[in-house]
Amino acid sequence: MGRLDGKRALVTAAGQGIGHASALAMANEGAQVFATDVNTEALGTLDHANIVTFPLDARDSDSIADGVSRAKPDILFNCAGFVHHGTIQDSTDDEWDFAFDLNVRSMYRTIRAALPGMLDRGNGSIINMSSALGSIIGAPNRFIYGTTKAAVVGLTKSVAVDFITQGIRCNCICPGTVESPSWHDRVKALGEQLGSYDKAMEQFVARQPMGRVAKAEEIAALVVYLASDESAFTTGHTHIIDGGWSGQ
Ligand SMILES: NC(=O)c1ccc[n+]([C@@H]2O[C@H](COP(=O)([O-])OP(=O)(O)OC[C@H]3O[C@@H](n4cnc5c(N)ncnc54)[C@H](O)[C@@H]3O)[C@@H](O)[C@H]2O)c1
Repeated sequence: MGRLDGKRALVTAAGQGIGHASALAMANEGAQVFATDVNTEALGTLDHANIVTFPLDARDSDSIADGVSRAKPDILFNCAGFVHHGTIQDSTDDEWDFAFDLNVRSMYRTIRAALPGMLDRGNGSIINMSSALGSIIGAPNRFIYGTTKAAVVGLTKSVAVDFITQGIRCNCICPGTVESPSWHDRVKALGEQLGSYDKAMEQFVARQPMGRVAKAEEIAALVVYLASDESAFTTGHTHIIDGGWSGQ
């Protein structure tokens, strides 16, 4: 308790999944959390004395400027992202543009907006959501998704190195498969192709050598660590949390 006392955290995509779990975990550690999403109904599930919720579209610069001016964050957790399914042959230009806009350009927007305040205060921890998939290990039918998540690694390292002497840290997280509402949708969609939900579940779980997927709370614990001063000597890195998927 209290590992984030006195800190202010802005979280994108906090309505469900990893963003939701991370907003709660940071609030439980004493941070004042500004939990945002485009889905305001989902934000309604975040009931905590340290959490303020409001809509923020990570694809819209005005919405981000408003969110940053309200939150004045010391911690920025860029969690918004979308999983496209398919090979390069299944991908359209529009799908590519949408995924890059939401998964990568959104971070360019939020970091540009939050950095000046962080630099004024001489303190900031930026945490970007990448994925083990694409940045560390290839997986079938994740051409656009894997490409965007690899780009997040480059973005992270580039921001980290430019502000390393000014109190700003920038890291990214590379999870394996994590239980979340959108993941359940992906299992259902694959189940329709394979003829059964259980077969699809088996295929997803088989990727993870531990024989299970991650809980969102397990990723949230890493977010808390990277947000806190415990990780003060850590910047510019990919933090892999994938149940041993890429470590074999
Ligand atoms: N679930 C996994 O297996 C997994 C693994 C590795 C990385 N990730 C990444 O973690 C992040 C969260 O995924 P998840 O599966 O935990 O949650 P999710 O996909 O179930 O939920 C995503 C949330 O993003 C919100 N969102 C969509 N567009 C938005 C926008 N323009 N602005 C703000 N919010 C928006 C949605 O409303 C939703 O609440 C994503 O970046 C994803 O790529 C997920």
